[in-house]
Amino acid sequence: MSQYYKVVITGASGGIGREIVKRLDKKAELIILVGLTKDSLNDLKKELQTKRVFIIEGDISELHVRDQIKSLAKQEGGINLLINNAGISDYFMFEDQDPKVIMDILDINLKAPMLLTHSLLPLLKNEPKAEIINTGSIFGYIGYPGFTAYSASKFGLRGFTQALRRELSDTSVNVRYFAPRATKTNFNTSNITEMNIELGNAMDSPEKVADKFMNFLSHNKFEMSIGLKESFFVFINKIFPKLPDIAIGKQLPIVKKYLNK
Ligand SMILES: NC(=O)c1ccc[n+]([C@@H]2O[C@H](COP(=O)([O-])OP(=O)(O)OC[C@H]3O[C@@H](n4cnc5c(N)ncnc54)[C@H](OP(=O)(O)O)[C@@H]3O)[C@@H](O)[C@H]2O)c1
Repeated sequence: MSQYYKVVITGASGGIGREIVKRLDKKAELIILVGLTKDSLNDLKKELQTKRVFIIEGDISELHVRDQIKSLAKQEGGINLLINNAGISDYFMFEDQDPKVIMDILDINLKAPMLLTHSLLPLLKNEPKAEIINTGSIFGYIGYPGFTAYSASKFGLRGFTQALRRELSDTSVNVRYFAPRATKTNFNTSNITEMNIELGNAMDSPEKVADKFMNFLSHNKFEMSIGLKESFFVFINKIFPKLPDIAIGKQLPIVKKYLNK
């Protein structure tokens, strides 16, 4: 998009969100930062040069928070970029996972972005050109043990992205999916990091992920996953799913060794 961005970004204060916001700063005329913690949102706001920066602190799975975002976006004259980036994870065998946590994962990673999109769509459609970018995950292509509920939420988010893009193909709104691999943020507990090290999984810095995001934003690809090895694995998973079944099956003892307690 050549015009200046008018942005709503959820998970703005997180590892990846914060770096994306910093890179959008010089390209934006309005940024609405959404997150759970006011202090970290305020700290981020202080670093920005964009004149119109607003903060909404609250849980996006709650209707009143989404209503607040919509009212503010409307009051400020609309938005042309929605980045659904907030997310949570939990590293457990599905059978042992707390059902409340399973619901939270689906609420925050899937239902909240769907409902926030639903609420902001009229504003986005008013713009000559607008984008919705959903932050998914490589686990939105490859179901991974220990992350079953999380994988389900990110697969769901990808399905939502694809269907909505097709539904909106005769409008000014594009809908796209950005899929990081493991990234060094607070999202990953120390045991997840240890598992990734033992498995030899690459872990990106949030700065690198945000650079990739900006590159994705400036092009028209519908989806982007980070990492050549991971992208190849996604391809194989699509055409010969038995092969990843075998490879990931061999990793299962290591996955089980580091589970959350
Ligand atoms: N890190 C990875 O390895 C990785 C890999 C692939 C995909 N991703 C995806 O990338 C996105 C960003 O992850 P990250 O690594 O930056 O994680 P992070 O550092 O943990 O940040 C998560 C962000 O989401 C916000 N958030 C969480 N629950 C929320 C809720 N209910 N309502 C509003 N905001 C909420 C957090 O707010 P507070 O900071 O205020 O708590 C924080 O800003 C997520 O969608 C994640 O699934 C991450």
